[in-house]
Amino acid sequence: MKETNKADVLLGLQWGDEGKGKIVDVLTPHYKVVARFQGGPNAGHTLFFENKKYILHTIPSGIFHKGCVNVVGNGVVIDPYIFSQEIGQLGFSTEELQESLYVCSKAHLILPSHRLLDAAYEYNKGNSKIGSTLKGIGPAYTDKVARTGMRLADAFASDFQAKYDHLKNEHIRLAGSLGFDATELKLDGLDFEAYEKAWLLGLEHLKSLPVVQSELFINETLDKGARVLAEGAQGTLLDIDFGSYPYVTSSSTIAAGACTGLGLAPSRIGDVFGIFKAYCTRVGSGPFPTELHDENGDHLREVGQEFGSTTGRPRRCGWLDLPALKYAVMINGVNHLIMTKADVLNQMKTLKVCVAYRVGDKEYDILPFSINPGQLVPVYDTLPGWEKDLDKIETFEELPPALLDYIRKVEEFVNVPVDIISTGPDRKQILVRKGSGILKRLSVNKD
Ligand code: IMP
Repeated sequence: MKETNKADVLLGLQWGDEGKGKIVDVLTPHYKVVARFQGGPNAGHTLFFENKKYILHTIPSGIFHKGCVNVVGNGVVIDPYIFSQEIGQLGFSTEELQESLYVCSKAHLILPSHRLLDAAYEYNKGNSKIGSTLKGIGPAYTDKVARTGMRLADAFASDFQAKYDHLKNEHIRLAGSLGFDATELKLDGLDFEAYEKAWLLGLEHLKSLPVVQSELFINETLDKGARVLAEGAQGTLLDIDFGSYPYVTSSSTIAAGACTGLGLAPSRIGDVFGIFKAYCTRVGSGPFPTELHDENGDHLREVGQEFGSTTGRPRRCGWLDLPALKYAVMINGVNHLIMTKADVLNQMKTLKVCVAYRVGDKEYDILPFSINPGQLVPVYDTLPGWEKDLDKIETFEELPPALLDYIRKVEEFVNVPVDIISTGPDRKQILVRKGSGILKRLSVNKD
């Protein structure tokens, strides 16, 4: 039997913001299709090239490469207003858009009233709020699972307005019962009615793009022998099943999410590229065992510019957490690791790495059920820093010995090679290890 052509998956191994956007952008020349499989405008994928910064929320990060088809898969939730604004920022012609951006008819819509509900639920949670981006993600996925949601295909049907009004009124009633009034809410600086008008215009814009059954398109692309990269959003520790529940997002951020979010059979998943930052960050609430509340944390935040690309919130910062990374590698079947933002650690004299969690008199080297504060104590190894600028370094092999030791520590712990290291925000600041599987893998079957 002929060997099946498989899609590769690229995803985050921590709490999001690992730098996935940049890595997808760098890998895209090796792929014909880049497809997002979950999440929505809660994501913020940052790309930096030719001295310009771009933040993508729903559009896949392969969009700036000519000839690449970018697909928003069925597993994604779309806010047409935000999506339309994002398209506007690309500055593409209609023809360019028609060739480069496809949207799945089965993707669910985020209604303005989903954002109202998100705010109402968060408000009612009081001190135990999730720290949601308030983009309506949770309520939109709730409607999907409750079988009351609206899909992009519904926007083409004659009863669209009736369905929309019915769902909106349900949401307003529900939010009202939680003490929330649509007329008092501002959405991206607009009042509810103005947002709704802009949303409906955005929907027309969205409908003008190629609307496809992305599961068919992607499987046909693979059948033709062309290469597909599935792009994840958020990170494994925010996954609805395996993340630090309930402080998670509402979708499957893991490799299995690429199957349900794009219609890929498990046997069609090829390489899994796991992205992790050389330290940890988290935005929003929830447990974070290696979090730093001292000057080291402030240093990481300042040097790493750790402020949310979607909400602007300061990110919480902490040491690299190897038991959590080991867990994420296992859940996703990662076979290539990619480390980002190593340069942020350049000036640090010593570095700590969490190598176990102590719970009572037991030690765990992989994430236990609960990582709530007070229930475990992180055990650290201390390593020397490299105290060197990485700017002038041209090959992976020339990295400072202390950084190579840091990388080796990770590899030995999780038993997967670090094949790529990113040393700055620009497309060009990237080093690939010589002789690594990733180079061989990417240079074959290029389409
Ligand atoms: P939601 O997905 O907006 O409901 O947010 C749920 C949690 O996930 C919050 O703690 C958010 O800060 C976090 N979150 C959602 N999207 C991202 C992301 O793209 N990067 C990092 N954190 C995220």
